[in-house]
Amino acid sequence: MLVSLDHRPIENIEADALVIPAFEGERPPCFTEVLAELFDSGEISGKALEMTLLHRLPGMQARRLLVVGAGKRERFNGVELRKAAGAAVRFLKSKSVRQIVFAPPDGAPASVAASIEGAIAGEYEPDRYKSQKNGDKAIEQFAVAAPEDAALKTVLHRSRIIAECQNWARDMVNEPANRLTPSEMAERARVMAAEFNLECEVLDRDRMQQLGMGALLGVAAGSAEPPVLVVLRYRPGGAADGHPVHLGLVGKGVTFDTGGISIKPSDNMEKMKYDMAGGAAAIAAMRAIAQLKPALPVTAVVPAAENMPGSRAQRPGDIVTALSGKTIEVLNTDAEGRLLLADALAYARHLGCTHLVDAATLTGAIVVALGHMNVGLFGSDEKLTERVLNAACVTGEKMWRMPLEDDYKDYLKSAFADLPNVGGRWGGAISAAMFLKEFADPAPWVHLDIAGTAWLDDAKPYLAKGPTGVPVRTMVQLVLDWTE
Ligand code: BES
Ligand code: ZN
Ligand code: ZN
Repeated sequence: MLVSLDHRPIENIEADALVIPAFEGERPPCFTEVLAELFDSGEISGKALEMTLLHRLPGMQARRLLVVGAGKRERFNGVELRKAAGAAVRFLKSKSVRQIVFAPPDGAPASVAASIEGAIAGEYEPDRYKSQKNGDKAIEQFAVAAPEDAALKTVLHRSRIIAECQNWARDMVNEPANRLTPSEMAERARVMAAEFNLECEVLDRDRMQQLGMGALLGVAAGSAEPPVLVVLRYRPGGAADGHPVHLGLVGKGVTFDTGGISIKPSDNMEKMKYDMAGGAAAIAAMRAIAQLKPALPVTAVVPAAENMPGSRAQRPGDIVTALSGKTIEVLNTDAEGRLLLADALAYARHLGCTHLVDAATLTGAIVVALGHMNVGLFGSDEKLTERVLNAACVTGEKMWRMPLEDDYKDYLKSAFADLPNVGGRWGGAISAAMFLKEFADPAPWVHLDIAGTAWLDDAKPYLAKGPTGVPVRTMVQLVLDWTE
């Protein structure tokens, strides 16, 4: 789908379809009497994502006009605008429309960005392995009606790259575990790095053994698929030195989580292919960063492994020594993400990262706490937390701050090692975060638990079922904001 800007007055726009949002309880901007009548009769109410498709309206060049409900004006924001754009694209796609012009309620840069990102995300279908694709119905062109303004060209360029990288992450997350092994994940990172001029290094099992990544290696022990640790480096202007800040993006890359010996129930286990969504997001964010070239050094560290039971698998009660030197009693082999991240966070610090942001499908408990609407955000540092929350606000990836207080350390007591890998029954997402903190400290660090938000169980009008690509956009925005 090509994206562009369209500066013509709305009435003069020729297109297969022109899309305008209409607010609840407000007359839509009236091109014609028809719209006014439909509003007055109640047929167009403006309720969120209501679709009214009209053909060949007098006084308009566009062949169709789609009025998308935008909900109440007071509630309207970037999140709602993204939904409206995404839903419009998906709706028109089903009508075999090829070319769309979308007119956001205003021409502000944030509105243009949201329209483009919503449209690109909405257009995506996870249909790689379907012989019968919707491809023949693909939208060819999506333009945003906006005033002529140089700043908007930059917005267009950025938003397109960011949203494409979000979809790139979704493709990777949707790969089944037989196709996307840890080695394959590394291979994709390598190919991407070569294309976009990033440095890429992949640590293999021998190297991890030399370094002493006992926590990561323990997780991988049960699988015939060897683990990898992917490192992608972006250096502004070619040099990483001289910058006081070096951001580390760390992502959980469990290509499949059976639970290991503490095996999961079989119901829904197929979904555990998305347990690498955090890792995919970190790699995809680097793909955008490499193209947008901000003035901040960023390194992604993605530990990838498959969590399997088997005669070589680690057992409950095993004690492993992490890269940091701390010993961990593995009370539950299904709490594997934090083991991978323990070594990855320590390694990121070893590589010189001064600030850390990790993303992980870490706990079922965060889904209990926040449902599927918000990413669980844990921050050890106020400034960094604020940066991430601000970035999330811009990108519309909703995040909710969770507590991270030393009191919760009480949940992490092991009789036989420095730490257990699970806390008690309560506050599972928090004890998981407290565990990670032991390995991120003393670096300012934010942990994003995306277990509830990285996968959509049912399609929404604005987004296909499956991987969402969270939190690619926020990771990229964080980096862009840092230097501007
Ligand atoms: N990958 C899971 C968490 C998860 C659950 C992600 C649901 C997506 C949807 C993680 O490795 C896990 O199994 N966590 C356990 C931890 C427990 C054993 C302390 C959990 O949440 O049940
Ligand atoms: Zn698990
Ligand atoms: Zn897991």
